[in-house]
Amino acid sequence: MPDGSRGREQWESRMGFILATVGSAVGLGNVWRFPTMVARSGGGAFLLIYGAVVLVIGIPLMMAELAMGRGSGRGVVGAFRTLRAGPWWVAGVLASAAVFLILSYYSVIAGWTLLYTALGAAGNLRGMQVAAMEQMFNHVTGGTVLPVVGQVCFVVLSCTVAYFGVSEGIERWGRILLPAIVLLLLLLMGRVILLPGAVDGIMWFLRPDFTQLSVSVSLEAVGQVFFSFSLGMGAVLTYGSYLSRRDDIGNNAIIIAFADVLIAVLAGLVVISALYAFDIDPEVGFGLVFVALPAVFNTLAFSAFWNAAFFLSLSFAAMTSLVSFLEVINAIAMEELGWPRRLVVPLVGLGTVVAGLPSALARGALQDIVLWDRDIMDAVDALTSSALLPLSGLLTVIYVGWVWTARDAAREIAGERPLSQWMKLWMVIIKYIAPLALTYILLAGIVS
Ligand code: PFF
Repeated sequence: MPDGSRGREQWESRMGFILATVGSAVGLGNVWRFPTMVARSGGGAFLLIYGAVVLVIGIPLMMAELAMGRGSGRGVVGAFRTLRAGPWWVAGVLASAAVFLILSYYSVIAGWTLLYTALGAAGNLRGMQVAAMEQMFNHVTGGTVLPVVGQVCFVVLSCTVAYFGVSEGIERWGRILLPAIVLLLLLLMGRVILLPGAVDGIMWFLRPDFTQLSVSVSLEAVGQVFFSFSLGMGAVLTYGSYLSRRDDIGNNAIIIAFADVLIAVLAGLVVISALYAFDIDPEVGFGLVFVALPAVFNTLAFSAFWNAAFFLSLSFAAMTSLVSFLEVINAIAMEELGWPRRLVVPLVGLGTVVAGLPSALARGALQDIVLWDRDIMDAVDALTSSALLPLSGLLTVIYVGWVWTARDAAREIAGERPLSQWMKLWMVIIKYIAPLALTYILLAGIVS
């Protein structure tokens, strides 16, 4: 529905906006990074740090991005230019470059989840133990055709959602996919909790071990909040640009943040209790999701069903996130070039597939290419999450706090109401605390 005053598309309902934004936040990051991080970094003690980072940096930054979006009514490049004229639009270009890079490899992993959903449902994973699952993983991700097919299918599906626009596409599908993710995870949880030893696994997952806490663990927590909340890339900003003046930014940000954390913890409980019941060490990354977990599900009756349910929930989570990545670029292209959505979406989809080819082939035909000791996909991931995202987040807070000014941003958030004590605290966070924390992370990331 276009906004009469600005001719911009808008969310149909508050609930639709919340579900779509939680959909952007809940993604592969929740299922494969969060549980391992908690398990290795002090369990309940890490959760306390994570919670503090969510409150002090995550929610205030989400409010800042939503305010920039709604205040400007523009995508990430236009927002920087519209709120204050000057060279700051370059920060928007940086954010969109980061998004495009992440989009390229995220779509490849998303393609794997789609392939695994099909393999699981067809019963092709049935009976395989860890070694066989490893071979299967290398076969699926190391070939030339399969990873590209998976990625193309995933991008086509995501572009189909984006093609129908904000309310008819993104919002409508968010309303279906997000509840489906939660239901599937609850279903898996219901089954996994019945495994002998699962309850011990949950206790182990949540046990507070304060000896594991360190500065670097806190930095990891900040990085994870960034990635998980989709911050620093203009995704939340772009979704905020489709908000109406009536919507309460503070309340919405709190709900979205809590929903993302709850779903991450739910995914953590499923993953960790399943692994614990089988005495498998929760290692980070692909091995966890594509090798260890399916091997665990294979020990259950109806294993094809459990594998398919797990990979389907992952595919849905990846899709709602990918749609938000795409929308960052779509919004920029529609505004800056004046092209219609029906032309922009297929072009952005094509660009994503082409940009993703090196990552799709990183474990196969291009495996000999090594950058910073990593294959291409891991190198792009490291470049974006350790350098570009914190940099782009830092530029965003400096811009909101000092260029647009925290006061003007707070006015945008408060609307007609006078500035509350909470908003004054928010201004302090945006002006001082968040920039210092992000500078620190950026330097620590570069040094390490
Ligand atoms: N938040 C997503 C996840 O946790 O997997 C990743 C993500 C989506 C990051 C969209 C950034 C973004 F714009």
